[in-house]
Amino acid sequence: MKTRFIVSALLATSIALPAMAADNQEMVMEARKVIKQFATQLKSELKAAMKEGGPVNAISVCNEKAPEITEQVSTSSGWTVARTSLKPRSTANVPLPWERKVMEEFEARKAAGADPKTLDYSDVVEENGKKVFRYMKAIPTAKVCLNCHGGEQVKPEVEMRLKSLYPSDRARGFKEGDIRGAFVLKKTF
Ligand code: HEC
Repeated sequence: MKTRFIVSALLATSIALPAMAADNQEMVMEARKVIKQFATQLKSELKAAMKEGGPVNAISVCNEKAPEITEQVSTSSGWTVARTSLKPRSTANVPLPWERKVMEEFEARKAAGADPKTLDYSDVVEENGKKVFRYMKAIPTAKVCLNCHGGEQVKPEVEMRLKSLYPSDRARGFKEGDIRGAFVLKKTF
């Protein structure tokens, strides 16, 4: 959470640079690869935990493992990796202003008929004299997600556990196919 506040302060003074198409394409490909690795790791942990002890057990895994995996992938890939949402569960994932704007644009594109799986965004900004490539990709809601992010599908014991861990949880009431949030990747170059 602390680092995100620092980043936020930096971004307040950042300047958008004109896109450099050729370079960007390579960075986009790299970012997508990192997201694939990140998403696969998150999903396999979730699947294993659900199988072992159902959604109540899996909450603890999401609560502890998700931030751990995020940290790990950031270190190993050389990218700053995060997840955010317009309706965040964890206060550590509250979006920065630019992230909010991009996700609002994703929602508008989805409303106009776009498939959430295809929604992404990239730009280059300057922070403290250094160029930073930023990439975001929408995360669609699958059926399994409704165990913890749905409406009435969420079991009472899951609801109780979520309320005690995340008193300001907003990540509820999602339906299959909704945009649950987005991956955010950044790299200085
Ligand atoms: C077992 C319960 C559970 C299931 C199932 C689950 N999540 Fe979550 N999700 C959580 C918890 C707990 C957090 C908060 C993690 C943290 O503290 O960093 C979270 C956080 C997130 C976040 C980060 C933004 C935020 O709201 O804090 C995203 C994005 C997300 N989940 C997407 C999904 C998707 C997509 C699926 C289905 C593939 C899914 N989740 C399935 C429990 C769950």
